[in-house]
Amino acid sequence: MAYNAVVEKIVDVAPGIKEFTVAYNDREPDFTAGQFCVLGLEDENGKLINRAYSISSAPKEGKMSFYIVLVEGGQLTPRLFALKEGDDIFMGPKCAGHMTIEKAKEAKRFIFVASGTGIASFRSLIIEHEDFFKNKKIALLHGVRKSCDLGYKDEMNERMKKYPESFHYFPVVSRAEEGEKWNGLNGRVNMVAENGLIQKAWGEELTPEHTHVYFCGNPKMVEDMSKFFEEKGFAKETLHKEAY
Ligand SMILES: Cc1cc2nc3c(=O)[nH]c(=O)nc-3n(C[C@H](O)[C@H](O)[C@H](O)COP(=O)(O)OP(=O)(O)OC[C@H]3O[C@@H](n4cnc5c(N)ncnc54)[C@H](O)[C@@H]3O)c2cc1C
Ligand SMILES: NC(=O)c1ccc[n+]([C@@H]2O[C@H](COP(=O)([O-])OP(=O)(O)OC[C@H]3O[C@@H](n4cnc5c(N)ncnc54)[C@H](OP(=O)(O)O)[C@@H]3O)[C@@H](O)[C@H]2O)c1
Repeated sequence: MAYNAVVEKIVDVAPGIKEFTVAYNDREPDFTAGQFCVLGLEDENGKLINRAYSISSAPKEGKMSFYIVLVEGGQLTPRLFALKEGDDIFMGPKCAGHMTIEKAKEAKRFIFVASGTGIASFRSLIIEHEDFFKNKKIALLHGVRKSCDLGYKDEMNERMKKYPESFHYFPVVSRAEEGEKWNGLNGRVNMVAENGLIQKAWGEELTPEHTHVYFCGNPKMVEDMSKFFEEKGFAKETLHKEAY
């Protein structure tokens, strides 16, 4: 099986977390912000192991980046983490997924809830639709184990300074270790919504009107958090979920 792409760049984000930028050999990237694409590598028997990965870059950046955590004993991620810049890889020719803003064009408020690498597709959306989002209210919630796992943190803090009225970023750490420099929120990402922090930041009640909520990451987090919003009266079509 011939590989069709090359790993252009690898960034070490934190222990066990890397950002890979991959380019097709013979075509330009073609995707919508919020979508995912398949990456694949052959095993020792020549069988291609494929997995889906959210694209963390935005189409307007003209590249395809992926924010990936190493799953010990996993079939693909240990192979991905052994790659070097310049190595060949398979990248699915078609991107897919529904974590886009196409069905939320009328919304005035957006809540993005991510755990772990679930931040990837939200980063893509936020960068791509900067102009669209600047007149809206945005809450980006990101729950991770340790503060070093807060990928894209500096970029999101910058954005909060740039758009203090519209963009609110809530990084949350669940397993801060002694000596870790973390003075922010502690617990699981759910605590942001459960403690009314979004309303406080927005200076208004959290109501379903004109509000869409996106969830990405741990399946149980997605299930629990979507239930939380459903109980607040949010309609199913305004709750967008990707669990893995
Ligand atoms: C639409 C979609 C988008 C995705 N986007 C991303 C992304 O942006 N970044 C990313 O890192 N992953 C993402 N994933 C997960 C990815 O597809 C793989 O499942 C993951 O990388 C593990 O692959 P593996 O072959 O190493 O492990 P496997 O051999 O497939 O799995 C080994 C074991 O680990 C478990 N496992 C798999 N993933 C995780 C996890 N994240 N945490 C804990 N246990 C796990 C499996 O259930 C299994 O028991 C996405 C999945 C989907 C469906
Ligand atoms: N993150 C890393 O530094 C790292 C490094 C190497 C390998 N790995 C491996 O990669 C895999 C994924 O790790 P990850 O840290 O990216 O993702 P994760 O285990 O899903 O954890 C990310 C965040 O989601 C939280 N979470 C877990 N279950 C939840 C639930 N039901 N509701 C709400 N929040 C929930 C976690 O809180 P809790 O802390 O309370 O679980 C943590 O804050 C694991 O196999 C891990 O061993 C991770």
